[in-house]
Amino acid sequence: MKNFKRYLVTSALPYANGPVHIGHLAGVYIPSDIYVRYLRLKGRDVVWVCGSDEHGVPITIKARQEGVTPQDIVDKYHNIIKNSFAKLGISFDIYSRTTSPVHYDTASDFFRKLYDKNVFEEQVTLQYYDEEAKQFLADRYITGSCPHCQNDKAYGDQCEKCGTTLSPNDLINPKSAITGSIPVKKETKHWYLPLNKYEEFLREWILEGHKEWKVNVYGQCKSWLDLGLQPRAVSRDLDWGIPVPVEGAEGKVLYVWFDAPIGYISASKELTVDWEKYWKDEETKLVHFIGKDNIVFHCIVFPAMLKAHGGYILPENVPANEFLNLEGDKISTSRNWAVWLHEYLEDMPGKEDVLRYVLCANAPETKDNDFTWKDFQARNNNELVAILGNFINRAVVLTDKYYEGVVPECGTLTPYDQEILQEIPKIKKSVEENIENYRFREALREAMNLARLGNKYLADTEPWKLVKTEPERVKTILNIAIQISANLAIVCEPFMPFTAEKILGLLNIEKFGWEELGRTDLIEAGHKLNKPELLFEKIEDSVIEAQLLKLENTKKSNMANEAVDIEPQKESVTFEDFMKMDIRVSKVLEAEKVPKTKKLLKLTVDTGIDKRVIVSGIAEFYSPEDMIGRQVLVLVNLEPRTIKGIESQGMILMAQTTDGRMVTVKPAEDIVTGAFIG
Ligand code: MF3
Ligand code: ZN
Repeated sequence: MKNFKRYLVTSALPYANGPVHIGHLAGVYIPSDIYVRYLRLKGRDVVWVCGSDEHGVPITIKARQEGVTPQDIVDKYHNIIKNSFAKLGISFDIYSRTTSPVHYDTASDFFRKLYDKNVFEEQVTLQYYDEEAKQFLADRYITGSCPHCQNDKAYGDQCEKCGTTLSPNDLINPKSAITGSIPVKKETKHWYLPLNKYEEFLREWILEGHKEWKVNVYGQCKSWLDLGLQPRAVSRDLDWGIPVPVEGAEGKVLYVWFDAPIGYISASKELTVDWEKYWKDEETKLVHFIGKDNIVFHCIVFPAMLKAHGGYILPENVPANEFLNLEGDKISTSRNWAVWLHEYLEDMPGKEDVLRYVLCANAPETKDNDFTWKDFQARNNNELVAILGNFINRAVVLTDKYYEGVVPECGTLTPYDQEILQEIPKIKKSVEENIENYRFREALREAMNLARLGNKYLADTEPWKLVKTEPERVKTILNIAIQISANLAIVCEPFMPFTAEKILGLLNIEKFGWEELGRTDLIEAGHKLNKPELLFEKIEDSVIEAQLLKLENTKKSNMANEAVDIEPQKESVTFEDFMKMDIRVSKVLEAEKVPKTKKLLKLTVDTGIDKRVIVSGIAEFYSPEDMIGRQVLVLVNLEPRTIKGIESQGMILMAQTTDGRMVTVKPAEDIVTGAFIG
């Protein structure tokens, strides 16, 4: 294996269209934080970059839904994400964002360089266009049925149900996600990265050169390469993103997956003037931490971009994780099915390490895994409290009780003492090997074995029984227990930094480096400890039930929403446009069925201005008797229309219920007939 001088670690840039949830944490940020904290403890030269991914269609859709600008959306979520990461102890060297000026320049220059090298192919193709919104429909702006699984809510870039990568042309019955209209096809020019030309290089580099990559990663790369690579458009017709920096590209921006990975480079530039050392020197080990949906971009597209550009190193490893589910269901931002980090931090103050522990112990390293609140509780109570917390507490409490907190002398070691102490370097080695090979669950298990070892030592030696009869022996036992505690502070740091800090506080010592792990003289006899305090507390059933109730409520509200198809927002109108509509509170005076029809009622209404006749398609939902005397809202200046021979002079406003019926919209309070709505 190659010896590297320094490390550059990246973690997938989260989209700034929603907060971070436990799936992101277990898949990407906790493993990378463990890795980097470990490297730092070893004194390695390491730089770790991340930031918000602030472009792309989902952000513009979210902005439209909320009636704000894309910049408002990314500002809001960038701050939420950044703060919540910091509170969980995720220790990036920089958390930047792709709307930063440095990133605009870096991404533009990168594109320009490839453009000048004639790397791109320009193609004019027919793309879907929404004539109402006057906009091309890229990626998530278009929906339709998936050709593979018939899911009718597939997107132009992906079907979330079966996970297939799609292009808009694959969709059956495509519909605009903006207006709901059926799009037409229109010509547009884009720049394509000819991935096919890099196929051979990628085969060689990955399939021959990186057989050590995780099987899920290697396997996905192999199947992409075996299918054959196609040129991929790296620009889009959108007004949110980094403008394509060449002439004749008005209204076109860089595709989000072109600019986002360059964000790693931009963030490094913002962090240090020495950034080139980390990106361009072969002695740097570049590691990308990502989730499995990002594999193709980090193993195929971005390396092809770096190769095309020239001068950059390529990733040495891409330890992608699988997905974490929540209580048996796929985590989903749009369905609000998640445990959100910022909410967890509020609901469970002081339990940052509990979440870190549970998500690492249960990380989806080789297959999808499930997070359940019951398991969370069990791991806290049976592992953190009963094993780690219990051992440290016993060591510190007994020292406090017998020696007023002053660490006793270590006398002659028995063979059993030696046997126990010899375990520590073995644990160290195993934790190292596991972390360096991205097996963080196993590494954590090994770290916890040190606490198990400590418990076993105290249980076997029973100092509380010997204290009267063999006081000298008890001193040795507790000296050893305290040395094990100090070792635990080191080994826990990458996984549970707050706990490591607390242990150091209890022992009244400063932080050690990783190489001190295994030493049995970390704390001298005569050193005074601080007062005992518990590291972890038991989590009661009521706390877990409250979390489960929260999820139950999400489920209920999703069910109500899913019954109704929510239409996308319509094109904006001016205030004047709106004021042209004359909507009046009216009272139904008479109602009768229109003969020979199923749906129509003929209503006579008092609009306050006059009494008039309106024909309305509500007979399926209301009998004439239901309507008489009812207050309704009427658009009174709608051009009259003759329906079944009756002139209808206005329209009654209606809306859909959760179970799909159409009902009249009525004022919440009694309002005078003829009142104007607006
Ligand atoms: N925002 C993407 C996601 O959440 C990840 C971007 S990673 C980067 O899936 F490489 F593009 F930065
Ligand atoms: Zn599908």
